[in-house]
Amino acid sequence: MNQDNIRQEIESLRHQLHEHNYSYYVKNKPTISDIEFDKLLSQLIDLETKYPEYYDSNSPSMRVGSDINKSFEQVVHRYSMLSLQNSYSQADVADFYNRVQRGLEEGFNLVCELKYDGTSISLIYEQGRLIRAVTRGDGKQGDDVTANVRTIRNIPLVLKGDNIPDYVEMRGEILMSWDVFDSLNKEREIQEEPLFANPRNAAAGTLKLQDPKVVATRRLESYIYYMLGEKLPTDSHYENMKIAADWGFNVSDAMIRCSNIDEVNKFLEYWDVERKSLPVATDGVVIKVDSITQQLHLGATSKFPRWAIAYKFNTEQAITRLDSVSYQVGRTGAVTPVANLEPVLLSGTTVRRASLYNEDAINELDLYVGDMVYVEKGGEIIPKIIGVDKDARFLLGDKVQFAKLCPSCKTPLIRYEDEAAHYCPNQIGCPPQIKGRIEHFVTRKAMDINIGPESISLLFDKGLIRDSSDLYKLKFDDLANLDRWGATSANNLIASIEKSKSIPFEKVLFALGIRFVGETVAQKLAVAFTSIDNIASATFEQLTSVDEIGARIAQSVIDYFADVDNVAFVERLKSYGLTFELSEEVLSSRTNKLEGLTIVISGKFELHSRDEYKSMITQNGGKNSGSVSKNTDYILAGSNMGPAKLEKAEKLGVKVIDEKSFLSMIND
Ligand code: IVH
Repeated sequence: MNQDNIRQEIESLRHQLHEHNYSYYVKNKPTISDIEFDKLLSQLIDLETKYPEYYDSNSPSMRVGSDINKSFEQVVHRYSMLSLQNSYSQADVADFYNRVQRGLEEGFNLVCELKYDGTSISLIYEQGRLIRAVTRGDGKQGDDVTANVRTIRNIPLVLKGDNIPDYVEMRGEILMSWDVFDSLNKEREIQEEPLFANPRNAAAGTLKLQDPKVVATRRLESYIYYMLGEKLPTDSHYENMKIAADWGFNVSDAMIRCSNIDEVNKFLEYWDVERKSLPVATDGVVIKVDSITQQLHLGATSKFPRWAIAYKFNTEQAITRLDSVSYQVGRTGAVTPVANLEPVLLSGTTVRRASLYNEDAINELDLYVGDMVYVEKGGEIIPKIIGVDKDARFLLGDKVQFAKLCPSCKTPLIRYEDEAAHYCPNQIGCPPQIKGRIEHFVTRKAMDINIGPESISLLFDKGLIRDSSDLYKLKFDDLANLDRWGATSANNLIASIEKSKSIPFEKVLFALGIRFVGETVAQKLAVAFTSIDNIASATFEQLTSVDEIGARIAQSVIDYFADVDNVAFVERLKSYGLTFELSEEVLSSRTNKLEGLTIVISGKFELHSRDEYKSMITQNGGKNSGSVSKNTDYILAGSNMGPAKLEKAEKLGVKVIDEKSFLSMIND
């Protein structure tokens, strides 16, 4: 193939893939099988790898997320991102209609569309190509999240069709579907990471992640609801949205143009019910004047456009009395405020408690004990208090102020700068923290000891265990005589505790409950350092030189081993015979053949998986790094190494090796 043919081939593959993407993710009508799609994509990636000169940031191959890690640049919005005035009744909407009528003194149409409950985005296209994606920020300027947005499959990177303006800004909402949200939270629960309260927070949080590769796995979606620019295709918002759909955007079908208020009300009533069967969260309807000329004529206040209004659906709410506020302490010492309510029926279940999140949330509500509060269950896991009926205030109790002392051990609480949460710093003596740590210690993914939270609490309260290491001191007689215990349960527990002594090192490390050292991190540390003593004596630099161990984790490990109580705890566990180094088997396969070498893995492999190559590098004393830099010695390149990496490798003179040469480096 000559250069022209190559370029044509690459362009044709890109075009086909953009089309198939659109059919699949926007139209929901796949035009080819997944296998055929993957084949085309790998053909493209092959060509892009061989011919990096045709690099294109909007190639369909960029959907998997690029390697760039950076904090977000601030971008000033060319058109500021206003929010919408809210309304809660058909009467409010009628008022809006009358205001528009007075403002225009001529006929007008309205467009009704759903109000999607996610996080807003501004997408900027020049010459039909996505050049920037910016969050709302403060409305005047936001974060440049382009690399993350490129991973969202139903956002076109290159627009389809003719007559696309040279410059156009598309406004829309980034969402996470209920399905994705539920499975993400399940996963986080297992990993003991804080749960997202709702899909909106999850979408907003995901969009601000530093690693576009992680964003790509979160399966975000978009709905586009507005077009801006100097040269728009038509003067009708409705028509422009239809055209946007042809360009490749995901525009909602739930959109009507109407000429009177009755049609508007019908739309409101219909979607008030139907929205519950949608796969994504919506919180209302947006009603807009259709003509752009008329929109400009009506203008905006400093906050809202005068040509649009949001009608908010009534989420099911109940009003009930706030009896008291209590505080729960988790294993990390984080203190969560909980509202205790007079039981009330809400969406079919009795609600007794509601989350109050943190001090800021409490202050914002301006709560008093005895207040009548509105509780809502809008898709959130735990019901929340959304407001107070201040007119119903009489015989009030105390103002709710965040606890100063730990509810359990009475130690003064602390709040770190930049954090919303309060912590009880008494890790050693605070019972719920100790019990929480023991619960963590025994979980299946850690020491896998067969004991539940009630039994842990009982053993703790009886003074039989003061920390996890005391489990190994338990005797049959200690247990068999406990209330509702017997010989069988005592024997079972003793056996399960005994068995845990052979649990491999990486799980023991995870069981210690060092902050930010989850299952995967524990595994990485275990492989890199081979024993607890090496980890305990590792410097910050040594820790952060391990793949995926960042400053936050490294500091937490250092802090843990700087504490004499933790060191004594680990020593006790050692004395009971727990496993604190990698097994002989793992160790004996280790070499230092790659010592001093930093290797980047890129592309798809045939002989081993990526993870296997990663562990081979560390097993042989090398360092695996995620991005190419002047410190990189080799790039272990698979079949479809990204063109950007290749270009960089060439520039820096880094050697690129394939699977076979790598394997021959570590095998004699
Ligand atoms: S129009 C100036 N249309 O709601 C017009 N907004 O509360 C700006 N939203 O910031 C917005 N669905 O993030 C519009 N169909 C829709 C919408 C919508 C959701 C969001 C958007 C906006 C917020 C205002």
